[in-house]
Amino acid sequence: MVDLRELIQRVSQAKDKLELQNLKSQFLGKNSQINKEFKKLGSLNENDRKIRASSLNNEKQKITEAIDNKFQELENSEINQKLQKNKVDVTLPARERPNGKIHPVSQVIDEISSIFSEIGFSVAEGPDVESEYNNFTALNTPEDHPARDMHDTFYLDKNKKILLRTHTSPVQIRTMLSGKAPFKIIVPGRTYRCDSDQTHAPMFHQLEGLHIDKDITMGHLKGCLDYFVKEFFEVKKIRMRFRPSHFPFTEPSAEVDIGYRLENGRIIVGEGDKWLEILGCGMVHPNVLKNAKVDPKKFQGYAFGMGIDRLAMLKYGINDLRSFFEADFRWLNYFGFDPLDVPTNYRGLSR
Ligand code: PHE
Repeated sequence: MVDLRELIQRVSQAKDKLELQNLKSQFLGKNSQINKEFKKLGSLNENDRKIRASSLNNEKQKITEAIDNKFQELENSEINQKLQKNKVDVTLPARERPNGKIHPVSQVIDEISSIFSEIGFSVAEGPDVESEYNNFTALNTPEDHPARDMHDTFYLDKNKKILLRTHTSPVQIRTMLSGKAPFKIIVPGRTYRCDSDQTHAPMFHQLEGLHIDKDITMGHLKGCLDYFVKEFFEVKKIRMRFRPSHFPFTEPSAEVDIGYRLENGRIIVGEGDKWLEILGCGMVHPNVLKNAKVDPKKFQGYAFGMGIDRLAMLKYGINDLRSFFEADFRWLNYFGFDPLDVPTNYRGLSR
């Protein structure tokens, strides 16, 4: 016979879940007393069997209930102990706001990424130290091509095989070689050219865009850039012009300028009669697609490369590009952004 009272008492005295688990298998498992009693049912006559079965089921249910209740009780006390340990003292003073500021270039990269992610671009990256092949040759810029001189390249070895990338375009090649079309990416990153004046620095930032799919046209490129520029400058209308241009890796190619005017030395975007070039773009040259193992008969698309620093200058009225890289704390304190205020499209991009 099963001594129900004793079993239930032992359950109620279990110290932890492990002990309870052991009791459960002892009282209800295969070799438990109650299970043995169930097995004996077969030898009884029908009437006795019914009565005995119902009382056994009743006992089994009581044991199960006792175990479940005990489990809940142990669980609750565990949670309470945890809560007790992690108690937050709400009377403590708030932490001070951080002192540092986000650099305008980082801020602008976050803003741009947010804008392009809204229309399906994902972010890709590549290394600053590149091969001459990815930076030039694969981009349809052979060794004797004049465009190579224009880039004022920093080479890192005598044979001119390794260099600091002069643009983010080599990531086009890397991306296409490591995946399968279609592609829709943006690539923010550092780029280097041996050049320095008010609007040029030896290290600067570009954002590459690449959209390869079936039937992509120059119309998509214009639509995409129009959307971007308006979102970025947070205006409904902006003066923008496409100028025919040349890049070895696009055909046709264009450069895009944005209208601005100067007011008390500050740049005001969107109006006025001055133009600032912000990006180069075009339809990806079939040779580039071939070099990147994409079939130009099936796929085509556009690419663009924009100067992030210049966009930051325009948007936030910063006049000298070189100040971006001087690490002057007063400058950063003035032009920098609140680290807790991450830009998103839906909540607003800038202050
Ligand atoms: N890589 C070019 C530059 O640095 C910009 C560009 C990118 C032009 C993609 C066309 C297409 O000037």
